[in-house]
Amino acid sequence: MKLPGSAALALGTTSLVAMASACFADLAAAQAAVAEVGVGQAHPQEWPARKATVPLDPSVETRIDKLIAAMSLEQKVGQIIQADVGSVTPEDVHRYHLGSVLNGGNTTPDGHYNTPAEKWLEAADAFYAASMKPSGKLPRIPIIWGSDAVHGHNNIVGATLFPHNIGLGATRDPELIRRIGEATAIEMRVTGLDWTFAPTLAVVRDDRWGRTYEGFGETPEIGASYAAPLIEGLQGKLGDKDWLRGPHIVATAKHFLGDGGTSGGKDQGDTQMSEARLRDLFSPPYIPALNAGVQSIMVSFSSWNGTKMHGNRSMMTDLIKDRWNFDGFLVGDWNGHGQVKGCTTTDCPQAVDAGLDMYMAPDSWKDLYRTTLAHAKDGTLPLARLDDAVRRILRVKIRAGLFEAGKPSSRPYGGRFELLGSKEHRAVARQAVRESLVLLKNAGRVLPLKASANVLVAGDGADNMAKQAGGWTLSWQGTGTKRADFPNARTIWEGIDEAVEAAGGKATLSVDGSYSQKPDVAIVVFGEDPYAEFQGDRPDVAFDDAQNLALLRSLKAKGVPTVAVFLSGRAMWVNPFLNAADAFVAAWLPGSEGGGVADVLFGKSDFHGKLPYSWPKSSDQTAVNFGDKDYDPLFPYGFGLRFGDSGELPRLPEQRASAAVADPGILFAAGRPGNGRRLLLGAPGALSTNPGPSLIEARAVDRTAQEDSVRLNWTGAGKAIAAIVQDEPVDLSREANGELALELEFKVNSAPTADVSLLMTCGDNCLGGFPIGNMLVQAAVTQKWTRLAIPLRCFEKAGVDMSRVDKPLSITTAGRLDMTLSSARILAPSGPQLACK
Ligand code: BGC
Ligand code: BGC
Repeated sequence: MKLPGSAALALGTTSLVAMASACFADLAAAQAAVAEVGVGQAHPQEWPARKATVPLDPSVETRIDKLIAAMSLEQKVGQIIQADVGSVTPEDVHRYHLGSVLNGGNTTPDGHYNTPAEKWLEAADAFYAASMKPSGKLPRIPIIWGSDAVHGHNNIVGATLFPHNIGLGATRDPELIRRIGEATAIEMRVTGLDWTFAPTLAVVRDDRWGRTYEGFGETPEIGASYAAPLIEGLQGKLGDKDWLRGPHIVATAKHFLGDGGTSGGKDQGDTQMSEARLRDLFSPPYIPALNAGVQSIMVSFSSWNGTKMHGNRSMMTDLIKDRWNFDGFLVGDWNGHGQVKGCTTTDCPQAVDAGLDMYMAPDSWKDLYRTTLAHAKDGTLPLARLDDAVRRILRVKIRAGLFEAGKPSSRPYGGRFELLGSKEHRAVARQAVRESLVLLKNAGRVLPLKASANVLVAGDGADNMAKQAGGWTLSWQGTGTKRADFPNARTIWEGIDEAVEAAGGKATLSVDGSYSQKPDVAIVVFGEDPYAEFQGDRPDVAFDDAQNLALLRSLKAKGVPTVAVFLSGRAMWVNPFLNAADAFVAAWLPGSEGGGVADVLFGKSDFHGKLPYSWPKSSDQTAVNFGDKDYDPLFPYGFGLRFGDSGELPRLPEQRASAAVADPGILFAAGRPGNGRRLLLGAPGALSTNPGPSLIEARAVDRTAQEDSVRLNWTGAGKAIAAIVQDEPVDLSREANGELALELEFKVNSAPTADVSLLMTCGDNCLGGFPIGNMLVQAAVTQKWTRLAIPLRCFEKAGVDMSRVDKPLSITTAGRLDMTLSSARILAPSGPQLACK
């Protein structure tokens, strides 16, 4: 999608690229200097051995031999590449013989986050047809489509949304997990998709990690007990006729290995520990997953002792394939191969050579195809390895019956849209919600509540589908959705209302907690806003929400008993809330069935959930885990009250142990630069807070609130810069590998009289950016507030070293310019973005 004026913006980047090349040379030298040998290398003989569950089927292997013998080199290379449906067309799939497509968390067949299910099925048919269209004498190989159905088929409007894995961990109910797998597989089949990137088998050790909720718990035991039933639910049972077919799909165990063990809970970070600890903590869930016949394993973005998993032969080949006899295929994570030393997203034979079988190359596939083909031709990528990768992918496709299955809409369940969010599936989800709730406090046995009472329902989470569903829900971050996108769902409020009305009581929704008639009890629902992956990484585990805390306190002061229902993707420090509420329920991210919360609050069933993560005693107790030497959590792993228990809790200290930290994505907002950043002005090389009025001037002005914006005025007396400057350089490489963008909101009061550039810099002689003069001229005509979103990867392409950005934003011109900036942020934009080529 393009903004007006973007054509002009996309031009003229070459000179900036040239200016930046010097810094790249330096970086390469620095990397060579720190190269180490022997770190992060596994010794598979020290890991448990595993026999193949079933011997290879000779007829399948012969069929593969024939296919491989008939395939061209181009076709083989295409087969090991997966592209994102947002960046590839069916024609491309045909032309480049691509083996797979995926939809990332933010991509759908037509670019709308809430594309109807029918469109998904149409797209599945189109990609399938393209893959089966004859291409000379080459064998026709069906495509496989992967999607993150991680809590139900969560990219689809109307699908059943199960609790995220953290809630399922609390249920300690492996058989329920099997039924969730079955329902998810059927809903995927309805839309024509074949393959889910689930389950996540992460054992999560530091709750600052933004993916904590994707893990079942902090010990290997829960994941190990769930892996087989969940995979069997998704794929069917090994040996059964409908294994991987009919109502079933292909599953993925991810992210191999140690994804939940990175230092500081940093997403895509480094897991620093001994081999024995890596093995004992993180590998146990993978053994039952393999035994249950999981057909693909996704390699982790993270490193082990400094070595990226995507380049680690000892883990990918020696351990998974040789020691564990895995005969399915290894898929990479989102451009994860590009993080291997010496690789880029578009050139990385190293990863496949080390054992990766399929690159996840969402937007990088075309150039990656070219370079991989060249490497296959000149032998850099050994043909035997390429053939083995192809063999594994074909094996899974044959096992799944894809060669004979016909187009997705013609397969069993294809197009049976009534099964999305069906009564049966929703009942399973509702049971999961009931079983997942963990009761932490129940003073004076305020729970269970009487449904015949006068119940006030408050808090911003009460009637809020996005908040109760969390990340990976219609959009990657789970944001930007509306109630109408969830036609088959119930919010927590709606569930309570239904229960109370049925019992002749009275329930009132009042988000701010105000009331005219004093209620018998108040249920306050609040918690974390949705997030996914690194965007959810936090500096500590404190939960801040002054508004709902004040509400709980004021209800208490007025003598209204309160029940706090806390929505979160992790265990958090909530002492002030625990003190303020009479009862406190950890509800995690329950998904579409808000009714399950009411079932338990009103005593239709007792509490069942047990903490899958230890609950922190202080805001800096971020990595408290069962089995620690000085284990001292507030509530231990496995804790969970029932109605019959005494639920009193002594008053807890309310002093926060760590300082509050602002949103790291804010460069400028509410009239101020973000934390750790300053707005500096002046001539190149002479920036300061207040350079005097001769070159450039800044003045606080109002947009919607007092002094919430800054008016910048370039006088034209010489080249001058307005820049957001980091106190410390910041590493934005994770943000750039994805769909995050730099988004500005501004107004142009008078048009520029000379060229203007928008730049990001990464130290001396390291920069990249775009000319924005034409666009500002246009904005000056309308005099309207304008939004401009530039994908971070465009800056990367323009030459910025994203790992050490020192000025995330600078605007330069030698002419006159008068503009007002109201915000600059790094975020997952919900509106159109600039295209960069
Ligand atoms: C995530 C994976 C996911 C993939 C495809 C990656 O960023 O790490 O868990 O399966 O994207 O959306
Ligand atoms: C995609 C996700 C992916 C992430 C990786 C996002 O843009 O939608 O699926 O996991 O980028 O950073």
